[in-house]
Amino acid sequence: MYRLIYKSRANQRIDWKLVNDLIAGSEESNREAGITGVLLATETHFLQVLEGGFDDVNELFMHIARDPRHEKIQLIAFDCVESRLFGGWAMHGVGIFNFNRKLIDDLIDHYGEEEGSVRFPVEDWKVLALISDLRMG
Ligand SMILES: Cc1cc2nc3c(=O)[nH]c(=O)nc-3n(C[C@H](O)[C@H](O)[C@H](O)COP(=O)(O)O)c2cc1C
Repeated sequence: MYRLIYKSRANQRIDWKLVNDLIAGSEESNREAGITGVLLATETHFLQVLEGGFDDVNELFMHIARDPRHEKIQLIAFDCVESRLFGGWAMHGVGIFNFNRKLIDDLIDHYGEEEGSVRFPVEDWKVLALISDLRMG
């Protein structure tokens, strides 16, 4: 089982419709490939976790990396892991721009600011901490 994490900058302002379109377009093929994960989005950046077999995750990432809807793709981790974090989700979308301002400000205090919202970390352990914070929030 492998887990890949990357961060990217969107080429347009991200809204809930865009996140939903990406999720809707991903669910079936992710399910077929046994891929699970989460797609976090601020209004400017994506952070995605992909979990599955080595070849499936590799192939999907190369595909996603060529998608013209984003750029500046930064690979954060591609590790062999014991188990999935997102076993229940073909792809779970989380729009941080939908959170209340207080929660966004708390996250900015912890993780820093980038273009008016939370700065997605580029260290894998910080990404996992952020994901765990979001689940508790
Ligand atoms: C931020 C982002 C995340 C994406 N995540 C997935 C995903 O998890 N699964 C997937 O099949 N496509 C995902 N896509 C879409 C793919 O890049 C691609 O558009 C889709 O697989 C359809 O490809 P096709 O038109 O060549 O069949 C994502 C795109 C972006 C911009």
